Amino acid sequence: MNIGSRIKLLRLVTLAATFQALVAATYVDPSVLDACPGYSAKNVKIQRKGLTADLVLGEKPCNIFDADISKLSLSVVYETSDRIHLKIVDPSTARYEVPESILPRPSSASSVAPHSAAIQFNYTASPFSFSIFRTSTHEVLFTTTGHPLIFEPQYLRVKTSIPTNANIYGLGEHTNPFHLPTDNLTLTLWSRDAYGVPNGTNLYSNHPIYFDHRTTGTHGVFFLSSDGMDVKLTNTDPGGPALEYNVIGGVLDFYFLAGSETDPTAVAKQYAEVVGMPAEVPYWSFGLHQCRFGYQKHVLTSTFSISAPTYPFPSAVSLRADPEQCIFSMVSISLAPRLSARRRLFNITLNARRFSALRGYLGATDPVLSKSTGILNQDRNPGSQTRSS
Ligand SMILES: *[C@@H]1O[C@H](CO)[C@@H](O)[C@H](O)[C@H]1NC(C)=O
Ligand SMILES: *[C@@H]1O[C@H](CO)[C@@H](O)[C@H](O)[C@H]1NC(C)=O
Ligand SMILES: *[C@@H]1O[C@H](CO)[C@@H](O)[C@H](O)[C@H]1NC(C)=O
Ligand SMILES: *[C@@H]1O[C@H](CO)[C@@H](O)[C@H](O)[C@H]1NC(C)=O
Repeated sequence: MNIGSRIKLLRLVTLAATFQALVAATYVDPSVLDACPGYSAKNVKIQRKGLTADLVLGEKPCNIFDADISKLSLSVVYETSDRIHLKIVDPSTARYEVPESILPRPSSASSVAPHSAAIQFNYTASPFSFSIFRTSTHEVLFTTTGHPLIFEPQYLRVKTSIPTNANIYGLGEHTNPFHLPTDNLTLTLWSRDAYGVPNGTNLYSNHPIYFDHRTTGTHGVFFLSSDGMDVKLTNTDPGGPALEYNVIGGVLDFYFLAGSETDPTAVAKQYAEVVGMPAEVPYWSFGLHQCRFGYQKHVLTSTFSISAPTYPFPSAVSLRADPEQCIFSMVSISLAPRLSARRRLFNITLNARRFSALRGYLGATDPVLSKSTGILNQDRNPGSQTRSS
């Protein structure tokens, strides 16, 4: 069999596998999920700056995809006057969490008492549900009432009611409109390079944060998880308008951000206090994106290569041993015959430096990206990508 027909066969097999995966996807009626027993809060310990509790599974577990986990532990900490950290874990076993080495958690050194926080946690013991409300107005910002918590080894569900036609932003990276449609929308957080960037699909990175903009203020909810998930927005379900997380692993780790009643930008600052600020990108690294699969026009890149050496780059950036290999990992294998033409236009050493610098920056600032099938893996494994994007 020649290489061409081998590739065709391989594509066919891949297509068949993909098709089978689609067919095998299970649809679960939302009313079945809402009928699950959920948990009861027991052994609730109110502390000065938060609380802890055990969550005990109710009778007749619904075991949607696997057995419901029988006992969970809840902790709530008022980390600052604008931020509540809520975590629900399975105390009997360690489950995946984004490591501290990749995303250092913010300090709770300036934690406050509930009454002096801008938002507060409230709960109903049985069936367990919780809400987050604004202290000043008692407006409920997040509530799981009527939507029991589901926690199985590979299926976690948290669902909050939201206002009708809510103004929700975020949950990227995707190609939906900036102002998210609220009816029957499923946002899949699963990093991928989507050829042709079709509308309404997931893309390279994952940012499980949403901003909810209301006439009464803007707040944010950050779900610290790098597990694959679907976030569903619905306006017309019998259970009322809602936002629902469906997650395939990990723990429930939420940061509720009070935002502000008057300043819609405040929530972005509070989010940066949790995940950190983006790294400043050096001027000389601009133009790297021009050195990519299928970019045939070299004008911009070569102009840049000429001007770039006059700009400094951080000394901490390590130069890869083999600059040519580095270029190879950036331009797909399929472009190899054209490499000699490109070499005349690029200063390969310079590009190698830029490349390893960018790797450093992405690795340091975007844990989800470096964990996922995003561009880092793609660049490490050039043979697996042969198309342009
Ligand atoms: C907290 O929730 C309980 C219901 O479980 C409710 O009666 C109470 O009013 C709530 N408190 C606040 C301050 O919203
Ligand atoms: C909801 O969206 C899915 C596709 O994402 C579509 O198949 C389904 O028909 C839609 N349901 C309604 C009620 O619009
Ligand atoms: C994608 O959506 C935008 C607006 O949301 C629309 O203008 C554009 O035509 C759509 N593209 C395709 C290919 O459907
Ligand atoms: C390529 O760049 C390096 C480092 O910036 C420089 O030392 C070298 O002279 C350049 N080579 C050419 C041919 O421009």
